[in-house]
Amino acid sequence: MIQTLHERLIKAANELPTPPLLQSYGRLVRVNGLTLTAIGGLFAMGRKYQVESIDGVWYDVEVIGFHEKEAYLMPLNKVEDLYAGARVRVATQAPSICIDERLLGRVFDAQMNPIDLLGNITREKEHNQTKLVKSTPLSPLDRRGVTEPLDVGIRAINSLFTVGKGQRLGLFAGSGVGKSKLLGMMTRFTSADVVIVALVGERGWEVKEFIEQSLGKQGLKKAIVIASPADDSPLLRVKAAEQSHKLAAYFRDQNLNVLLLMDSLTRYAQAQREIGLSVGELPASKGYPPSVYSKLTQLVESSGNSEQSQGSMTAIYTVLAEGDDQQDPIADNARAILDGHIVLDRSLAEKGHYPAINIGASISRVMPNIVEPDQLQHCYLLKKLYSRYLQVHELIPLGAYQAGKDPEMDAAVNLYPQIESFLCQTLNEKISFSDSAIQLQQIMGKVNVS
Ligand SMILES: Nc1ncnc2c1ncn2[C@@H]1O[C@H](COP(=O)(O)OP(=O)(O)O)[C@@H](O)[C@H]1O
Ligand SMILES: [Mg+2]
Repeated sequence: MIQTLHERLIKAANELPTPPLLQSYGRLVRVNGLTLTAIGGLFAMGRKYQVESIDGVWYDVEVIGFHEKEAYLMPLNKVEDLYAGARVRVATQAPSICIDERLLGRVFDAQMNPIDLLGNITREKEHNQTKLVKSTPLSPLDRRGVTEPLDVGIRAINSLFTVGKGQRLGLFAGSGVGKSKLLGMMTRFTSADVVIVALVGERGWEVKEFIEQSLGKQGLKKAIVIASPADDSPLLRVKAAEQSHKLAAYFRDQNLNVLLLMDSLTRYAQAQREIGLSVGELPASKGYPPSVYSKLTQLVESSGNSEQSQGSMTAIYTVLAEGDDQQDPIADNARAILDGHIVLDRSLAEKGHYPAINIGASISRVMPNIVEPDQLQHCYLLKKLYSRYLQVHELIPLGAYQAGKDPEMDAAVNLYPQIESFLCQTLNEKISFSDSAIQLQQIMGKVNVS
């Protein structure tokens, strides 16, 4: 397409930031950990400002709170050589990125700068309002219920913990139990049209490993990854999480089925804790100030289906939970606000049973409404036989188990090898929703214990 000089000039002008007409300065008066205190300016919550170092470098900061005439600022990146009385000015607003299909297959940081060396994405000043990176919360009456299953390509989940389009699910596990691998498999295998992956608070090398190994080229094609590793400022980690929700909502509103995978909700809560504490909020349980819980709820509530669109926004959040630690307030809170949880169990992972899903402890609250009655019945039967087997499994190697006394227990023992291989799945194996249901039927359909 040949562009005239006029068109090229307009495009270039649109990409330039708008300088403020009048520049006024505040002054830096205190630095306390990550919190900077400034006075003397007009400081608005959530707005970006810049603070000048002794060498004349301007660092981006954001207002996170204020008290009387003092504003509390937090840097977005590492800051050096600040000094008492340093100038603080309003930052010029960079044009926001336009959300559309160009973002698919790309990896961004929390501020939507591409970090995958595939080139820049044009930022536009003038664009369609619907594409602005802003989110409006769904009103309760605007929510559309969860009525259809979403194929995630994992047999155990499809058949026993069916994910519904629009559901919010927690993936609870300690570290190294297979969360990232499972998320990678879902990204590659799901039938969703678009997958948004938010990597929040992971170690830097984990981000690279996830993108290159768990996701691979195939997974990345229909995905958008936003990564904000552990060494990012807490503000950026929070932004990455929120941004991922805005992206997912945009594609949902384009009538697409979106799967949002966020690793992890706990790190998001920890970033909110850092911010809350640094503006002087009082810590409550495990150091989390009360605002963290409402932020968590707001984030989770921003996903789901909308009456306005035929699309759907399903979200899976990982939550760090070591063993049966019921004391962790974030895991507790997440259980309450999500519509189901899948628990990964270290003892299964240690046996090489992947995905290491703890059948007894996991639940999908929407499943009874979205699957065929047969599948539900077979699912309950499998869970029952599995738990019965666990009651006697230690007796079997000792020769202390006597068959013939309890037909249900016998069925559980006989079927266990089949059930176990049904629950396991290798990293490159994709099992569709219909195949999962058929295979469940093949094992459970012939069981007769009543
Ligand atoms: N489905 C799987 N098949 C085989 N190995 C797996 C599977 N899932 C996880 N693993 C093993 O577990 C390790 C940790 O998994 P990972 O997903 O990185 O854990 P987490 O994200 O919970 O810390 C992997 O490096 C891999 O060796
Ligand atoms: Mg991981």
